[in-house]
Amino acid sequence: MCGIFAYLNFHANKERRYILEVLFNGLRRLEYRGYDSAGIAIDNSDASSPLVFRQAGNIESLVNSVNEEITNTELNLDKVFYFHAGIAHTRWATHGEPAPRNSHPQSSGPGDDFLVVHNGVITNYEVLKETLVRHGFTFESDTDTEVIPKLAKFVFDKANEEGGHTVTFCEVVFEVMRHLEGAYALIFKSWHYPNELIACKLGSPLLLGVKELDQGKSNGHVFQDAHFLSKNDHPKEFFLSSDPHALVEHTKKVLVIEDGEVVNLKDGGVSILKFENERGRPNGLSRPASVERALSVLEMEVEQIYKGKYDHYMQKEIHEQPESLTTTMRGRLIRGDSRKTKTVLLGGLKDHLKTIRRSRRIVFIGCGTSYNAALASRPILEELSGIPVSMEIASDLLDRQGPIYREDTAVFVSQSGETADTLLALAYAQENGALCVGITNTVGSSIARKTHCGVHINAGAEIGVASTKAYTSQIVVMVMLALAIGSDTISNQKKREAVIDGLLDLPYKVREVLKLDDEMKDLAQLLIDEQSLLVFGRGYNYATALEGALKVKEVALMHSEGILAGEMKHGPLALVDENLPIAVIATRDACFSKQQSVIQQLHARKGRLIVMCSKGDAASVSSSGSCRAIEVPQVEDCLQPVINIVPLQLLAYHLTVLRGHNVDQPRNLAKSVTTQ
Ligand code: F6R
Repeated sequence: MCGIFAYLNFHANKERRYILEVLFNGLRRLEYRGYDSAGIAIDNSDASSPLVFRQAGNIESLVNSVNEEITNTELNLDKVFYFHAGIAHTRWATHGEPAPRNSHPQSSGPGDDFLVVHNGVITNYEVLKETLVRHGFTFESDTDTEVIPKLAKFVFDKANEEGGHTVTFCEVVFEVMRHLEGAYALIFKSWHYPNELIACKLGSPLLLGVKELDQGKSNGHVFQDAHFLSKNDHPKEFFLSSDPHALVEHTKKVLVIEDGEVVNLKDGGVSILKFENERGRPNGLSRPASVERALSVLEMEVEQIYKGKYDHYMQKEIHEQPESLTTTMRGRLIRGDSRKTKTVLLGGLKDHLKTIRRSRRIVFIGCGTSYNAALASRPILEELSGIPVSMEIASDLLDRQGPIYREDTAVFVSQSGETADTLLALAYAQENGALCVGITNTVGSSIARKTHCGVHINAGAEIGVASTKAYTSQIVVMVMLALAIGSDTISNQKKREAVIDGLLDLPYKVREVLKLDDEMKDLAQLLIDEQSLLVFGRGYNYATALEGALKVKEVALMHSEGILAGEMKHGPLALVDENLPIAVIATRDACFSKQQSVIQQLHARKGRLIVMCSKGDAASVSSSGSCRAIEVPQVEDCLQPVINIVPLQLLAYHLTVLRGHNVDQPRNLAKSVTTQ
């Protein structure tokens, strides 16, 4: 979790106030990754005494405390820096409570010789700490990160004691990396190496953004690949960030840093060195080799990172689902050979479809909402492909070391593409020889890069911590996956055509269901003081029950449980009384009559029901007792989960606002779970 950011300006006059604003803004964009404490380190007028600010709480608490400090110390905001290197961090605590001493940048000790911001977890920090303590270091924080700057100082001092050649910043960092185990994205700053930053990563994401300020001097050829590594005097700005959201407002020219790479920003140039070994694990290796990499262009518009007319990102992302679904399907539903039929084209899979069709089994692997999206898509995949589909929560697969075979196709579903459990499950499936398919929303993410093939869901940036539009786009991609795998089966032709027509119509239907916004706000008002909400679903909509309950609990902080309606009589029925609110999903599909009898049984026990039903069914679902009916448009059965989740997303959103909780940054959570 955590977000790291850095800004380096080269040959460019920038005022201290501008530098601070760039760093704060970078952190604001990354805040959804963690928001329990934050910190920055910037240059002082005297290069050997960096200014370090650390604060518990969110970014605005940091901003306020920095402003206060600036006023108290009469720090000059107008001071212009020709060169400047600043680093910043927003934290989601893994080791140690949110407190200034546990916030980053973590320091090598008095004098702040080395400062480090870190996203990830160092698993061998205790051993390293013991060694460093034996060498006289004292530790102030409870973090795993603190060993890193201290190790850097140890390496630096030792090299200087031994004499010989002067140790470079890169050499110090290589030596540090050699001792680290775990996952990390790191940015190092040191006053021994002014105007220089080093970034490296293993497991956690990190990007470099490059912006040339004076294009005239380079004839407009801004950082073409051939020039990328070279140093030159053109004024420029460099940005390092955990994700593209913090880069897009500055530049679209980015480099996705790879595992084992060490990126050195120095004298206006970028040099990249890489530890060579089989698994990208640098421990115990000899000197790394220099690599050349090309910059890529971010496919993201700056508008995506703004809330626009909405109060919250979650609200915006719920309401933009008609557009995100359209983008997900764009160019992928095309006319078939006969010109009458339509077919699905998933470019990222075309060379692997035959292998997938021959699989003994398809295994869906994911966490949280991504797992639920896969669960919603399982029935149509089984129906159209005829291949057994099993479901695995990534952490559980790893805990059990469950069987994965060479003949399996393992499908990894992840919005961020960086979830640690899902990534470890991917490594496990690869070790066991399965074909690995990635379904992610993040181009260049670890899962996108490490799988054999895959499909991007193209839902656009999702910033609210609660996943909404990624969920519906994931379902649509997996339905298209089912269509692509099953495209050679004649017997399914009719069903396939109905599903494709349904897909094309889906954005309009979602627009229609969004009109329930006021009704859901009204319902939220009724439920505002409740302790708990049960959600019953089955078939295609068992996943809707799980996902609806997940939304309510994670943002509205209200207990909620999604229950398979077929299991009701095996325990949950005991909870039913006239007080506990129960939502039942009973839209029309093959399970409709079974859900009708569930409703009757709940009515018979005076259950307090909210029933989601297809348009026109409100009277029939309330015929056996009173209930509140929510009518939604009826669509093809496998697409109904996309429609049915929308009112529950709206309900969770309004409940959260009415209960006064933070919508976009729910307590204790972070968007991208990059630690186990
Ligand atoms: C819930 C939510 C989480 C994520 C889960 C997996 O709203 O967002 O449950 O779905 O942490 O994250 P990704 O999809 O990035 O792998």
